[in-house]
Amino acid sequence: MKKHLFTRRDFVKMSGLLALEAPFINRSMANTNNSYSVTDKVKKSTNGPQPPPVTAIVLGAGNRGNTYARYSLKFPDELRIVGVAEPIDFRRKRFSEQYNIEEKNQWITWEHVLQNKKLADVLIITTPDRLHHGPAMGGMEMGYDLLLEKAIGINWEEVNDILQLSKKKNTIVGICHVLRYTNYFRQLKKVVDSGVLGRLLSIEHTEKLSMDHYTHSYIRGNWRTSKESAPMLLAKSCHDLDILRWIIGKPCKYVSSFGAQTIFVKENAPKGSTLRCTGGCAIEKECHMSALKRYYQSKTSLNHLAIEHHDDASILKALKEGPFGRCVWHCDNDSVDHQVVNMEFDEQITASFTLGFSPNFGRRTRVNGSLGAIVGNLNEGFTVCDIRTGETTRYDNEIPAHLDSGHGGGDFGLVHDFVRAVQSHDPTKLTSSIDESAESHLMGYKAEESRFSRKTMEVNMELYK
Ligand SMILES: NC(=O)c1ccc[n+]([C@@H]2O[C@H](COP(=O)([O-])OP(=O)(O)OC[C@H]3O[C@@H](n4cnc5c(N)ncnc54)[C@H](O)[C@@H]3O)[C@@H](O)[C@H]2O)c1
Repeated sequence: MKKHLFTRRDFVKMSGLLALEAPFINRSMANTNNSYSVTDKVKKSTNGPQPPPVTAIVLGAGNRGNTYARYSLKFPDELRIVGVAEPIDFRRKRFSEQYNIEEKNQWITWEHVLQNKKLADVLIITTPDRLHHGPAMGGMEMGYDLLLEKAIGINWEEVNDILQLSKKKNTIVGICHVLRYTNYFRQLKKVVDSGVLGRLLSIEHTEKLSMDHYTHSYIRGNWRTSKESAPMLLAKSCHDLDILRWIIGKPCKYVSSFGAQTIFVKENAPKGSTLRCTGGCAIEKECHMSALKRYYQSKTSLNHLAIEHHDDASILKALKEGPFGRCVWHCDNDSVDHQVVNMEFDEQITASFTLGFSPNFGRRTRVNGSLGAIVGNLNEGFTVCDIRTGETTRYDNEIPAHLDSGHGGGDFGLVHDFVRAVQSHDPTKLTSSIDESAESHLMGYKAEESRFSRKTMEVNMELYK
């Protein structure tokens, strides 16, 4: 009789943690077992010498650059910001003051950083989507590790370039798929991997934006055209495709997609509307899309207006001259207002994803298995229901206080793991290393191909190995 060796996999099975086929699941369980284990790790590390803080240069000191840099204020022993490249003067100055950056390490654009010798461990790339490929490729050539915002690139060729060079250079590339680091999705994945749902059959996932978010970012703002940024499915929802790939834990084989831009198009512009809300529009007073109401009167979402002072005169000038004062029916966007993606994964597991806007916005997920189902909402938590008994178990969405940050705690959760991956040069400490995340970008770009060709597309990462 063949002797049965007790392997690590057996141990995991005995612990009730099934489905450890894919290497990244293994990793994620390590993370989810401790579920934001900063305190544990700090306790452990007091036994030996502390690694020095990871040093970083931030390229693009806008919203995201500031978000990740703030981690260094909370955990100065882990991360230190030593340089910045930012073309908007007041942003560069404010950032430099906040992080005490020497004048010689304050640059205008990312190219300037790469013209110098390497002077930090990592580049935090938070430039606009179309400016990810250049600094990522140049930075890896110089030996920097990268924390790289999504979308990785504005087309698959850019993504694949970065993927291939990262392999050649053995670079740690953490992709800012922050949802993977939220307590909510970590717990949800843990439940799926535990096997309590039986055989995994399908997932229905939706992301609905508020109308304000949609018009701000995808009609008037920085992500409005696929020339300037990744297409909306990638720019907004590569997170969602990525979460589906991660939870299912098996490769996606085929995708098809439909979707269109139908509402805010010139043909639908109300009679009397002008190109700008400040241009004497006849319906501005009653228009729920009025830029004057939103930015000038309510003073909301002013960050992207790129003005130093949020006083009335500066806001009005930005609305008269900049992109955010434009009538939503007279913009140059090509972003969809609704899109659906259908996917078939290995073992005939199916998934659907719907993107759109709604007053009832947020991310919602249903996971269906042969023995149970999960119904969840990222803002609240999820419920697991046993088909046989009808018994339900509730998981509330609790964010650990020390990692309280945007995206349900995912922003700091990501930096926490990234720092450790760089310190130990071990990409397995990340659940969103580029190897893990590039595939979901391929799903997105193939879905876009399907939307235009009206064909089902094969998704095959083997072609890019
Ligand atoms: N992970 C997420 O959930 C998430 C959320 C929002 C945005 N993003 C992504 O993060 C990136 C940044 O988005 P944001 O909201 O911070 O935008 P932002 O406009 O606030 O910041 C981008 C900054 O890059 C600067 N910049 C432009 N050209 C530059 C250059 N040549 N060199 C250096 N800096 C330059 C801009 O001046 C700006 O300050 C985008 O790729 C976006 O898609 C990710």
